[in-house]
Amino acid sequence: MKVIWIIAVGLLAACAQAQNVNYTIQETVPGCNILDTFAIANYSHPPACATSGTCVNMTGKVVLITGASTGMGRASAERLAQAGATVVGTSRYPWLYHDVTTFQLWQLEYTSDDSVKQLVSRVGATYGKIDFLYLNAGRQYVGEIANSDLRQVELTINSMVMGHLKVIQAALPLMPKTGYARILQTSSVESQIGAPGYLPYTISKWAMQAMQEVWLTEHLGGKSNIIYSSILPGTVNSSLPQKAVYGCPELYNSQAAQPWYNSYTGSMVLQPEQIGEAVYQIAIDPQPRLRYLAMNDQQYATLIPVWCRRQRLPMEQWYDMAAPEEQAWFQGEWTENTQLNCSAHCNGTEFCGAAPMGEQYTGTYTIGPYK
Ligand SMILES: *[C@@H]1O[C@H](CO)[C@@H](O)[C@H](O)[C@H]1NC(C)=O
Ligand SMILES: *[C@@H]1O[C@H](CO)[C@@H](O)[C@H](O)[C@H]1NC(C)=O
Ligand SMILES: *[C@@H]1O[C@H](CO)[C@@H](O)[C@H](O)[C@H]1NC(C)=O
Ligand SMILES: *[C@@H]1O[C@H](CO)[C@@H](O)[C@H](O)[C@H]1NC(C)=O
Ligand SMILES: *[C@@H]1O[C@H](CO)[C@@H](O)[C@H](O)[C@H]1NC(C)=O
Ligand SMILES: *[C@@H]1O[C@H](CO)[C@@H](O)[C@H](O)[C@H]1NC(C)=O
Repeated sequence: MKVIWIIAVGLLAACAQAQNVNYTIQETVPGCNILDTFAIANYSHPPACATSGTCVNMTGKVVLITGASTGMGRASAERLAQAGATVVGTSRYPWLYHDVTTFQLWQLEYTSDDSVKQLVSRVGATYGKIDFLYLNAGRQYVGEIANSDLRQVELTINSMVMGHLKVIQAALPLMPKTGYARILQTSSVESQIGAPGYLPYTISKWAMQAMQEVWLTEHLGGKSNIIYSSILPGTVNSSLPQKAVYGCPELYNSQAAQPWYNSYTGSMVLQPEQIGEAVYQIAIDPQPRLRYLAMNDQQYATLIPVWCRRQRLPMEQWYDMAAPEEQAWFQGEWTENTQLNCSAHCNGTEFCGAAPMGEQYTGTYTIGPYK
């Protein structure tokens, strides 16, 4: 991952400026302009609704956020609590996070049906409703199709796809039937592009995208007051990779993930608080969009050209004409290697000990020639 990103940095210009290949997209969609379908908010500014005085008041709103012990889930929980919402966050190991003070952190192991039901019942019994459901929890196991650990693929799908589906089904009866009711999910650029070496994560994010679209088509014509949106962040400085690979609570802190993120240059990672601000602005948006990008300018310049081509071109054409950016991404060599001994800290949780110390994933991708 780190190598891929470093290669990608600096190579990229806005889609409209790509010179090397002829993209249909440039002819039919000048500038590869996706502003028409995406809200690209600049979260360093107050939202437009602040000027017009139409922002949703979060006081009294009940918010449920999965994956809120650290990272962007936690930052979002803190930001929404600060805005007056009553926030319940979930964690597989809430007892490890004594420093959570501004919101409730309750246990959820959402590969367990019982755990999902208990959690949502508890929210219902305590607060009576769920106004804003944020499906954020994620795992980021890596691996290629040929050599992925199938247990990790299954666990990722069971968490991000099945787990969130279970949460939605359990939460829907608690969501208001009129007025304000929102579902937001953490999507990814990899919800649109098959990222080499990221099989478990990528197929799960694609499936989450599909889940949103199925919901939308089921409720065409305003058949539901619930608005289901996605947020697509650039890379965020959180502990996702370490947590995903080891499933080991003792390692669940940002420090453990630092070597991974420090391989990024500063402006290529967002800090969790920036996503917290983005989620807050989405929550108070009186007319929410279906998708929100949450990227800084450098991420935007790097990712959007690649992404909008994938969005706009038929797969065959995209594959044939893949730009230098895509090729650089695909041909990068990536290595994930950590020296953390999970089994030393295991507490009988799933996957403890499954990843041996120093487990190393290495892959070299050479896709093509394109023509
Ligand atoms: C792009 O199209 C122009 C005009 O049709 C052509 O001359 C040029 O060779 C094409 N470039 C590539 C890389 O295919
Ligand atoms: C966001 O706002 C900052 C500060 O005004 C500005 O420098 C930057 O270009 C804006 N980014 C986008 C994508 O509009
Ligand atoms: C939101 O509503 C609460 C009570 O209903 C009120 O005290 C607060 O001032 C409102 N906040 C804003 C920003 O209007
Ligand atoms: C990530 O966040 C930590 C604090 O949690 C900070 O020390 C570190 O410098 C950050 N890394 C990057 C690349 O922003
Ligand atoms: C990891 O920790 C376990 C449990 O403490 C220990 O038995 C094992 O030897 C350790 N592995 C390595 C490679 O140090
Ligand atoms: C181990 O898990 C149990 C719940 O199954 C929890 O009560 C306990 O605090 C955990 N211990 C550690 C060290 O995480």
